[in-house]
Amino acid sequence: MKHPIFAANWKLNHGPADADAFLRQFLAYYPRTQDRTVIFFPPALTLHAVHLALKDRTDIKVGVQNIHSEDYGAFTGENSAAIARGAGAKYALIGHSERRHIFGESDEQAGKKLAAAVRAGLTPVLCVGETLAQREAGDTVTVVIRQLRAGLSTAEPAQVAGFIVAYEPVWAIGTGKTATPSDATTVHLAIREELRTLAGERAEAVPILYGGSVNCGNAESLLAAPEVNGLLVGGASLDADSWSGIVRTWATMASPLERRR
Ligand code: PGA
Repeated sequence: MKHPIFAANWKLNHGPADADAFLRQFLAYYPRTQDRTVIFFPPALTLHAVHLALKDRTDIKVGVQNIHSEDYGAFTGENSAAIARGAGAKYALIGHSERRHIFGESDEQAGKKLAAAVRAGLTPVLCVGETLAQREAGDTVTVVIRQLRAGLSTAEPAQVAGFIVAYEPVWAIGTGKTATPSDATTVHLAIREELRTLAGERAEAVPILYGGSVNCGNAESLLAAPEVNGLLVGGASLDADSWSGIVRTWATMASPLERRR
C-alpha cells in the first residue's frame, strides 16, 4: 500500500459554518502532502460547503455518509449518489454500523447502495463489523465476512480493486473501547483473504481501514499493525486539533506502511 487513508466521519455534527471554521484551522495545520489521503465525510447539507472550502486543496477529498439505493424518484428526504457527486463527493460510506443498527439497514440494502455508488462514479467505503454479543459468541469473522460478501454481491470482481473496506467493531464505536492492533490485524487478514477469493490478485489494491474510538493516543499503534491501511475516525475527527494530530501521526512514523505488509 503506497500511503494510508485518514477518513473523518463527522456523523450528525458540523453545519456549513462550523465546517468552515474547522477547515480554516485544520488547513493551517496540514500542508499539502502526497504521502496519505485525507477524506472528510460531513453531513449531506454540509458537503458542498466543505467541497468549496477545499477547492484549492485537491489533495483532500470529500465523501457522503449515506446514499439512497435508487438514482432518483419519490423518496422524500433522501439523497442519491449522483446528487452527492454533483455536490462534490468522491466517496460514499456504505453500511456504516449506525445505518445498520439505528436505521435497520440490511446487508442486502448495503449491496444495493454500493451498486448505486458505483453507478454514479463514487468510490464505496464498505463498513463491516460485529456487535459485542457476536464477538463474545466467537462470531466476529463469520459476521464480517457475511457483511462483506453481501455488500460486494452487486459488484463485478474487476470493480472491487477500486473500493475501500472499513472494519469497525460496533462495540468500539463511540465507546472509548478500541480493538487492539492484533485484534484488528486478525480481522483485516480475514477480510483480505475473502477479497482475494472474490477478486483474486486485484484484492491487494483494496485499502482496509480500521475504525472505532481511534484517537491521537492509539492512532500510531493501529496504523502500524499489519493490514491496517488507514483509519476511519468519528469523535476524534470533530476537533481540528485532535484530527490534525491523528493525520500527522503518519509523518512521525518511522517506516513506510508498505514495509510492514
Ligand atoms: P468513533 O466513530 O471514532 O467515534 O468511534 C467511528 C465511526 O463510527 O466511524
